[in-house]
Amino acid sequence: MRVAGLEVRCDAAGNLIGTLEGSDPTAPALMLGSHTDTVRWGGNFDGVIGVLGAIEVVRLVQESGRKPRHTIRVVDFLGEEANDHGLTCLGSRSMTGELTAADLDRPNSHAVTLGEQCVRAGLDPSAMVRRGWLRNEVSAYLELHIEQGPVLEQQGVEIGVVTAIAGIERLIARFIGQADHAGTTPMLDRRDALAAAAEAVLAVRQLGCDAQGAGVATTSQVAALPGSPNVVPSAARLEAEMRSIDPVWLDAAQARLAGEVTDKAADLGVDVEFDWVHDNQAQPLDDSLQSVIVEAAESTGRSWAPIPSGATHDAVHVARRVPAAMIFVPSINGRSHCPEEMTKLSDITNGIDVLAQTLLALDWY
Ligand code: HGY
Ligand code: MN
Ligand code: MN
Repeated sequence: MRVAGLEVRCDAAGNLIGTLEGSDPTAPALMLGSHTDTVRWGGNFDGVIGVLGAIEVVRLVQESGRKPRHTIRVVDFLGEEANDHGLTCLGSRSMTGELTAADLDRPNSHAVTLGEQCVRAGLDPSAMVRRGWLRNEVSAYLELHIEQGPVLEQQGVEIGVVTAIAGIERLIARFIGQADHAGTTPMLDRRDALAAAAEAVLAVRQLGCDAQGAGVATTSQVAALPGSPNVVPSAARLEAEMRSIDPVWLDAAQARLAGEVTDKAADLGVDVEFDWVHDNQAQPLDDSLQSVIVEAAESTGRSWAPIPSGATHDAVHVARRVPAAMIFVPSINGRSHCPEEMTKLSDITNGIDVLAQTLLALDWY
């Protein structure tokens, strides 16, 4: 960021913010950015191209000798990926004033709270939950990101203009059965907690398949106790999530899943407790910013298509405070959140050019 001529600081939540002062100190800033953290065993492009692309846009502006009227802020958001406390977008939640004390009290599987983790990372949790600084000082936010899915590549389209970002509901289900001897207990007399969790895994998958594109559902973890080969499992824990850009589908899906999992567990004599963890609400992105991106794509001769985002992004939180929009570029074979995650450099430069043209168009307003 410094090499590109940005003044760099860290805010209370550990977000890295580079600033290029504009010629008009009364004009609100234009903000670009994304994140550079990844999932476990993730790839090298998710988030990263949005931060490096934003820095490259500033470098291009500097190289052109043109002084922007608006101040430009480039942000590398802290902790966008889901952490061990079940929370995504830590930095952008704090910046927008959405991070709560209850979020910081969330324990991980080692009973360490998110707030304690933040202190260990040198952050000040009390400052992180203070009213976010992103008030009326930013007039627009733009995020360049890989699609992380197969649509743009399948359609042969260079630029995705993101219309909305999916909402996410997460589930932790605890199955309570009964430990018994695995060799002597008749099959129909068992209260097998892991068998009930296995039925739930298939119910989660069926829920997503029945959505036919309106939503998706994924189980990420199942654990069982005591885990001895000769004991019928007495307890099991399952983590799952559902996503949709349609809040109505998401609400109905939660009710359907709770009912089916409870009924299937009851058939096996197993009780189940649910903890629902709301991650974020589905969020439409700004229509007028989308039009500016379309104009930038068309004026630079690039093909484009509107596309909803099944992945969540920092933009979902920023969009609740200021007009926000996203630019997608294709993912090779649609792969992401894995070492195979890859996007062609030519597609990245397409995205950076459209990001730059969009920013310059906004700077005229
Ligand atoms: O979970 C997501 O969609 C994002 O990659 N954090
Ligand atoms: Mn990700
Ligand atoms: Mn991302």
